[in-house]
Amino acid sequence: MDIILGKKRILIISYSFSSQTRNLLNGLIDGLQGSEMEVHWEQLSPVSDLRFPIGTISATVIMMVQTFLRKRYPVQPLSSLCFQPWDLVILAGPTWSYNPSGPVLSLIDRDGKRLFSGKTVLPFISCRGYWRVHYFGLKGLLRRCGASVAPPIVFSHPTPEPWRTIGVFLKLAGKAPDVGSSWFRRFYPKYGHSRQQVEDSRKVGMELGEHIKAGNPLDHPLFTTPVRGEDEG
Ligand SMILES: Cc1cc2nc3c(=O)[nH]c(=O)nc-3n(C[C@H](O)[C@H](O)[C@H](O)COP(=O)(O)O)c2cc1C
Repeated sequence: MDIILGKKRILIISYSFSSQTRNLLNGLIDGLQGSEMEVHWEQLSPVSDLRFPIGTISATVIMMVQTFLRKRYPVQPLSSLCFQPWDLVILAGPTWSYNPSGPVLSLIDRDGKRLFSGKTVLPFISCRGYWRVHYFGLKGLLRRCGASVAPPIVFSHPTPEPWRTIGVFLKLAGKAPDVGSSWFRRFYPKYGHSRQQVEDSRKVGMELGEHIKAGNPLDHPLFTTPVRGEDEG
């Protein structure tokens, strides 16, 4: 990362289908604010509306198969600010069927070289639990655009298996497994990330801000707050 005098500038580009990445980023940005950074948050907006929940079991299965095959979901043009020089770009979004999400793939296809060439990019991943294939695929795509890729910040859903896999599927299919008084809810009280994880993300933002201010390189894991789903992947 460049060591320059004056305010450091961070660009965050994100996609969030069911608000989990967005919630974590609200924490992260809150933490970054303390370090007097200039932060611009650009949220990707798909060209055709993507509704959460998907609504039916069959449509959920179809989306999972399509996203496994890396279906692209085109996104609206970015603001011109994104193409300015930045000290760090955080590229954030969910894992979709072991891949980056379709809107992020589409963004990389269209704007990857212009956006990421010569930049340090830090992937920020929200997932149920399986992020490694996503990260390694994303790292390859970003490197081909000329980026230097930092180790990722990863948040996995905290509910144990097999409940979180079943719970995510039912939630996507519109079955609201975390609402009401069914027996399932005893094992699956909440879809997505916990309040504690949003708080952890805030702490990571504070640590990241301090590292950037100090001009530390981001090429190895830096955070004392847990940021990886170490037991999974
Ligand atoms: C189509 C689809 C496929 C998914 N596939 C995976 C997966 O392979 N691994 C995983 O850990 N989570 C998977 N998930 C779960 C999301 O990554 C997880 O719910 C994430 O927290 C959602 O973040 P968002 O609300 O910001 O989109 C999938 C979600 C969707 C919609």
